[in-house]
Amino acid sequence: MRIAVLGTGVVGRTIATKLVQLGHDVTVGSRSQLNPAADAWKFPGGRSAAFDTFAGAAAAGDLIFNCTNGAATLTALDMAGPRNFDGKVLVDVANPLDFSTGSLRLIYCNGDSLGERIQAALPDTKVVKALNTVTAPVMVDAGRVPGDHVLPICGNDEEAKQAVRDLVACFGWDQRRIVDLGDITAARAQEAHLFMWLALADALDTYEFNFGLAVRSK
Ligand SMILES: NC(=O)c1ccc[n+]([C@@H]2O[C@H](COP(=O)([O-])OP(=O)(O)OC[C@H]3O[C@@H](n4cnc5c(N)ncnc54)[C@H](OP(=O)(O)O)[C@@H]3O)[C@@H](O)[C@H]2O)c1
Repeated sequence: MRIAVLGTGVVGRTIATKLVQLGHDVTVGSRSQLNPAADAWKFPGGRSAAFDTFAGAAAAGDLIFNCTNGAATLTALDMAGPRNFDGKVLVDVANPLDFSTGSLRLIYCNGDSLGERIQAALPDTKVVKALNTVTAPVMVDAGRVPGDHVLPICGNDEEAKQAVRDLVACFGWDQRRIVDLGDITAARAQEAHLFMWLALADALDTYEFNFGLAVRSK
């Protein structure tokens, strides 16, 4: 599949590397085509990804991952050219975090979320919020954490959600571990989970953990 990964931070690098390993045709996007982080990027097995601007990458992908800084995502997607997303699935991995006051705040919250802002900015795009609730290495290798831990996803389009479920199955997230929270408004819950995630990361002194569900049968 032709997949664009917007973002050259640890998440973009981790997801793009995994997708290249899986044999996908990957284009990584950043603000500038001349990105030192991208130049220094080594892919295993002699394979490679293409590097382009946000716009070039978005145009090249049939499915697009948003791995940009959550505070800058709407700017980055605007730079990418909204028409380049039309009719495509956009997997939103970003969290709208603001640490400027010294403690975590969400830029969009309380009846709002980044996922919804993206869907409103790109009405002809099928936005699926996924993978934002775990650290990058666990996103692409669920087996790094033992047990039946789960991955919440949400979005307005059922076929798009199924496409994302199928794709992340190759990251180790089999169908029974994916919990569909419903439409894109559930991005509020997925993003607010970051408060619990950060508290647990402090308490457990690791980023490599996840939560499971214990449900009483009806
Ligand atoms: N780190 C994790 O394990 C983790 C886990 C779950 C979710 N997330 C979320 O995943 C996203 C990516 O995280 P990250 O740590 O890999 O990277 P990051 O440092 O949060 O973001 C890096 C990307 O954002 C772009 N960017 C930064 N400022 C920008 C601006 N003013 N305008 C346009 N683009 C801008 C950068 O562009 P250039 O390429 O041009 O520099 C780069 O591609 C974030 O939203 C984060 O909250 C991270």
